[in-house]
Amino acid sequence: METLPTTFSAEAYFQTQPPPPTIEQDVQSVRGFLKQQREHGKKVVLVTSGGTTVPLELNVVRFLDNFSAGTRGATSAEYFLKAGYAVIFMHRQFSLQPFSRHYSHSTNPFLDLLEIDDPPDGSTAPPSISVTSSKRDHLLGVLKSYKSVQKAGTMLTLTFVTINDYLWLLRAVSQELSVLGKDAMYYLAAAVSDFFLPRQKMSVHKIQSGKGSLHIEMDQVPKILKPMVAEWTRQGFVVSFKLETDDGILIPKAQAALERYGHSVVIANELHRRKFEVAFVYRTHDADPSAPRFAETWVRIDLEKDPEKEVEEDIVNELVRRHKQWLEM
Ligand code: PMT
Repeated sequence: METLPTTFSAEAYFQTQPPPPTIEQDVQSVRGFLKQQREHGKKVVLVTSGGTTVPLELNVVRFLDNFSAGTRGATSAEYFLKAGYAVIFMHRQFSLQPFSRHYSHSTNPFLDLLEIDDPPDGSTAPPSISVTSSKRDHLLGVLKSYKSVQKAGTMLTLTFVTINDYLWLLRAVSQELSVLGKDAMYYLAAAVSDFFLPRQKMSVHKIQSGKGSLHIEMDQVPKILKPMVAEWTRQGFVVSFKLETDDGILIPKAQAALERYGHSVVIANELHRRKFEVAFVYRTHDADPSAPRFAETWVRIDLEKDPEKEVEEDIVNELVRRHKQWLEM
């Protein structure tokens, strides 16, 4: 067995873990997409979305996963498109996608939008299908936005499943997107696993239960934001997320991430309040060395007053404003 490092730096990770088979094809489609967007002078945002799996076997039967449905990423992508950005939507396969997300939830299933209209008695025509009248306006709005994005060609969709797919794809897409310099934004909303099982330590076949309880020691996934900010993205506007379940450590950990990686903004969210409350954590540009070095601005919405409101609308508007301000500096 080849010798593996005891802790994986990003470099060691990419040297020892093989790329997904579709990586070259994905790079080609990103190149083509960026060429088009640059011709139209578009700003481009990479939105990552959904959770990553950690397979336990090479012939994978079992894997670890996390809660993320991809709501944050899919919803934000729509608001970025609305704000005039082109979007590379890099998401976990089968997680929510922009536009179709409105009808993929069990609370608003697509089939409930439709009615079967039987032909008049005696007619041999087949039944036709129509849209339930109470849902028509909403569907029309979503459909119009979807079709106009399709026509303009301003969204490219890429998929990942495992943590390994995600890391390879993130590196490749970031490197390609860096040609846009400051016009590129990176919006890292995916819920990325912190632990993984190197390929070299995986069982080839399904782990057998006959041996009793299962003990697996996982390695730490390298903190990918570090090379991303320092090497892959050059001057881009990088926005990471910080998710915690303990309020007491949320803001300090977001500040620590800013300190460590030196990127633009951390959006801090607590798991159970993430749909209506987030904090923008950023560096202050105060010349006074005794003044606080970080500040936070809270974005809150009132879902009782306005149940249709989405916090991502305010998040994206605020980021678009900050990106513009940063470009003008
Ligand atoms: O999809 P939803 O259900 O709508 O939920 C949205 C969300 C809660 C998943 C989203 O808002 C969010 O917080 N996403 C980031 C979750 C996360 O991975 O947090 P983290 O604290 O583990 O990582 C912080 C940041 O470090 C992330 O932006 C990630 O890109 C980065 N990271 C993480 C692991 C790793 N090995 N290297 C990294 O650089």
